[in-house]
Amino acid sequence: MSGSTPYVFMMKNRIEEKQLWEEIHKESGYSSRIFSLLDSDLVLNKFRMELSRLVVESRPIRILIPGCGSNINLQKCCYNVFGDNAQIDALDWSEEAIKLSAQQTAGLGLRITYINQSYYELSIDDSTYDVIVLANAIVSESESNNESAVKNLTRLLKPGGVLLGLFPSPFNMLDYSLTNPDAHHWICDGKVDVNKRQIHEDGDTTQRFFSPLELYMLLKRTGLYVKAFELFFYDDEAFARQISELYHIPYNNEYCFWGYFINSIKH
Ligand SMILES: C[S@@+](CC[C@H](N)C(=O)[O-])C[C@H]1O[C@@H](n2cnc3c(N)ncnc32)[C@H](O)[C@@H]1O
Repeated sequence: MSGSTPYVFMMKNRIEEKQLWEEIHKESGYSSRIFSLLDSDLVLNKFRMELSRLVVESRPIRILIPGCGSNINLQKCCYNVFGDNAQIDALDWSEEAIKLSAQQTAGLGLRITYINQSYYELSIDDSTYDVIVLANAIVSESESNNESAVKNLTRLLKPGGVLLGLFPSPFNMLDYSLTNPDAHHWICDGKVDVNKRQIHEDGDTTQRFFSPLELYMLLKRTGLYVKAFELFFYDDEAFARQISELYHIPYNNEYCFWGYFINSIKH
């Protein structure tokens, strides 16, 4: 029986992983290395709609945007929904991402506080936030890193607080490669490793994503009640272009990627 050659990679430690993100953010072409969700009206409208349900007239609200990167559209979206009632914090472990975001925000007069910290070593008090909004920000290559990120972030929510988030799925890439002849080889050459739920990308990037059940059980273990667990299809032109650039496949509007949209409440 012939087998395909397994994809070999060296697991990075947390310091190496942070360095890689720092390099990616320093490269001028943010979108040529990062699958960013935040230039899509589809995604921003979804967050806007879900956040609008949480508005209680004149009640102050504290919001955290972890893994904010250097695209400030999610900060703007939160600000548009809650206005001056919101105290919005955006966090990233990359100094460069924080610097770029803070520069853009400064010109707009928005009250956003930027925090340069890692999810793994947060020095923020438990039960600080009413809402956490995550956009594709739990993306380590290690399962235990991703688990501890979710656990640490959930601790920051107040009881009754809400975690909204778009999470990547390993089955998105599997689905894509099954559906698209140009990507059939992703499964046999190990780019998509279903057993390990890992996706190997160009350069030195590997990411370990959650299956739906793994993520559901993890959220439950961390004390979240999962109100909604949806498939969210990134079906717009902004994504078609990104997918084509990132994965070197012909630009084609016929296919789209998808992720999980989670709406959950802390007990
Ligand atoms: C895929 S990017 C998404 C950025 C942004 N949310 C967007 O959609 O444009 C993931 C972001 O998470 C940040 N990140 C990854 N691991 C982190 C960690 N342990 N602590 C803080 N930020 C982290 C990266 O620096 C990067 O900016």
